[in-house]
Parts: sequence; structure tokens; C-alpha cells
Amino acid sequence: MKIGIIIHSQSGNTRLVALKLQEKLSTLGHNVTIEPIEPIGDAHPGVKNLQLKTYPEIAKYEGLIFAAPVWAFNISPVLTAYLSQLSTLKDKKITAFVTMGFPFPWMGGNRAIAMLKKICRTKGATIAATAIICRSGNYQKAITNMKEIFSEVY
Ligand SMILES: Cc1cc2nc3c(=O)[nH]c(=O)nc-3n(C[C@H](O)[C@H](O)[C@H](O)COP(=O)(O)O)c2cc1C
Repeated sequence: MKIGIIIHSQSGNTRLVALKLQEKLSTLGHNVTIEPIEPIGDAHPGVKNLQLKTYPEIAKYEGLIFAAPVWAFNISPVLTAYLSQLSTLKDKKITAFVTMGFPFPWMGGNRAIAMLKKICRTKGATIAATAIICRSGNYQKAITNMKEIFSEVY
């Protein structure tokens, strides 16, 4: 399957996790491309009217994985800005993960995932599986679990 991993990663952690996922899905025979998104200018929680340098095209992908850091108990506004300009996610097989600094999902991860699910629902899609990767929690185990669960989706 042709899969696009759309990621925002400011300091590289989300990107590292995305690379591990790309490696795993590629060994299963999928064609996986990482598509980074970056803001024009400064991004911070609560920023308004954020513009991005690029808006990766999703038409070519059957599968999509959205990934971003948790910022202030939400998904980063960079991924929100990207998602909000999409007209539809209908018929896409979607998974998503967030990375976070605090050790427990309730410290922002759960809420970020809930927001992501809500946005995707407004675009006509249900997220098939999600993961929360806490950098100071059970990091490796969370990544291994995510790779297994996402592999079953695609
Ligand atoms: C502005 C800002 C807000 C953040 N807010 C949270 C938060 O609410 N909860 C949390 O666990 N981590 C928070 N973090 C930490 C990041 O989510 C974490 O370091 C993440 O893995 C960074 O991903 P990246 O390296 O891909 O940018 C915040 C980081 C920044 C820069």
C-alpha cells in the first residue's frame, strides 16, 4: 500500500519515531513516504492563522499516518493547520500518533489524540488506530506496540 506519514517535528523526536514506523511498514512491503510539514515563521501553542511552507498532497496515498508533538495538551498547531485545509479524508486508511515529553498519556497525549480524532471525523474519516509515545515513559515498548498495531491496519 502507498502510505504517507505526514509529520510535524520541531526538535526531531516525532521524526525519529516516524522513521522507525517507516522502516517497519516498509519491511512488510508497503511504499512509505515521510512528508514533513513546517510552519512559516514562529509556531507556538495558540498561534492564529498559521501558514505552512508546504502542504503535502494526499491524493496519491491510500494510507495516511498523522504525527505531531503534544503542545500544551493539544496536537501542535502546525498539524492542525495542515489538517484544517484538507477538504476530505474519506476512503483513506488512517492511523496517528503523538509524542510527548511528560511520562503519562493523561498529561496531554489523550487530549491531543481526542482532538485529532475529532478533526478527522469532520473530514469524513475514522482513525483506525492511535498511539501515544511518552519520551520519559515506557518509550521503547510504546514504539514496539505501535509498530505492531499499525502493521495490522495496513
Ligand atoms: C510549546 C511546547 C509545548 C509542549 N507541551 C507539552 C504537553 O502539554 N505535554 C507533554 O507531555 N509534552 C509537551 N511538550 C513536549 C513535546 O511534546 C515533546 O518534547 C515532543 O516529543 C517533541 O516532539 P518533536 O521533537 O518532534 O518536536 C511541549 C513542547 C513544546 C515545545
